[in-house]
Amino acid sequence: MTTILQVENLVTRFYTLDGVVYAVNGVSFNLQKGETLAIVGESGSGKSVTMMSILGLIPIPPGKIESGEAGLLLDDPPRDLLRLSPPELRRVRGGRIGFVFQDPISSLNPVLTIGEQITESLTKHLGLSREKAKAQTIKLLGYVGISDPELRYKNYPHQFSGGMRQRVMIAIAIACSPEIVIADEPTTALDVTIQAQIVELFQRLQKEMGMAIIWITHDLGVVAGIADRVLVMYGGRVAEVALVDDLYELPQHPYTVGLLGALPRLDATDTKRLVSIQGTPPDLLVPLNHCPFAKRCEYAFERCRAEIPALRPVGAGHRVACFYDLQKGKPRHD
Ligand SMILES: Nc1ncnc2c1ncn2[C@@H]1O[C@H](COP(=O)(O)OP(=O)(O)OP(=O)(O)O)[C@@H](O)[C@H]1O
Ligand SMILES: [Mg+2]
Repeated sequence: MTTILQVENLVTRFYTLDGVVYAVNGVSFNLQKGETLAIVGESGSGKSVTMMSILGLIPIPPGKIESGEAGLLLDDPPRDLLRLSPPELRRVRGGRIGFVFQDPISSLNPVLTIGEQITESLTKHLGLSREKAKAQTIKLLGYVGISDPELRYKNYPHQFSGGMRQRVMIAIAIACSPEIVIADEPTTALDVTIQAQIVELFQRLQKEMGMAIIWITHDLGVVAGIADRVLVMYGGRVAEVALVDDLYELPQHPYTVGLLGALPRLDATDTKRLVSIQGTPPDLLVPLNHCPFAKRCEYAFERCRAEIPALRPVGAGHRVACFYDLQKGKPRHD
């Protein structure tokens, strides 16, 4: 296994009129070459802000990356993404790290044709001539499953359906053969059949191109199908990280257990939304000095309300931030 991205102790805050939003509070994780890492967690748990911080897409102000590192270990010497200049970051985005967001319509420029938008990325990042870039764009459109790519090249975003626009976003994300693709809820805005097609497309691309994927989602059903590892976030922190089978078989954080318990059933009519866990997510306007999940946790005891649990190893590649040992049914000793 080769680690290609190493994020350490990332802290991102927003200084708003309502106060400081403690959005990401010391997130650490790594990404291995060619793997799919799923990031799950309720709305507001800091999934998007973590990724936007790494990509240099946080609006500053009100946002501020207070501390941390995001080492792109593919480079020799490794580079810290949090310390690159804006032009360097632009070269990394799209060139080395592709990204696909939830809403393809707001990510595409409405006044440029689909073809022009992909061609631009290829001329900018790969330095291809316009002619070569156009030929490559048509190839890419076909590759992501758009029929009649020569004709479709000349269309504008509004002439595409939601699913096709997402395919275009994926074509842009992979145009320069990135080593990493970050997909933030890439299927949420799509209906279920199209969702499945987009998931399949990602799987095929990964198999053929070998890139690592960070897949952010609410949908633990999708996670089971595509992820190698899962990172569970809560209150802007990592609650648990494990290989996907270990996480489903032996979840160690009460929050993960809750999420899995809330997995939508196959016969449920609404398969998109998780049934929520009792209680409300933590107020991110207040700095916490205890476990963010303590208030909602049926196992919480004194220590959970007095200290922040660090991530501790509980098995091979399995780490959890919890003072309670669910397996033994009692507090941990250390
Ligand atoms: N530009 C901003 N200004 C102020 N607060 C922000 C800004 N962007 C994000 N936040 C806050 O940061 C916190 C984390 O948000 P984030 O978007 O990372 O959540 P998420 O886990 O991606 O949720 P979702 O599943 O809904 O996408 C939230 O409280 C959010 O309101
Ligand atoms: Mg988000």
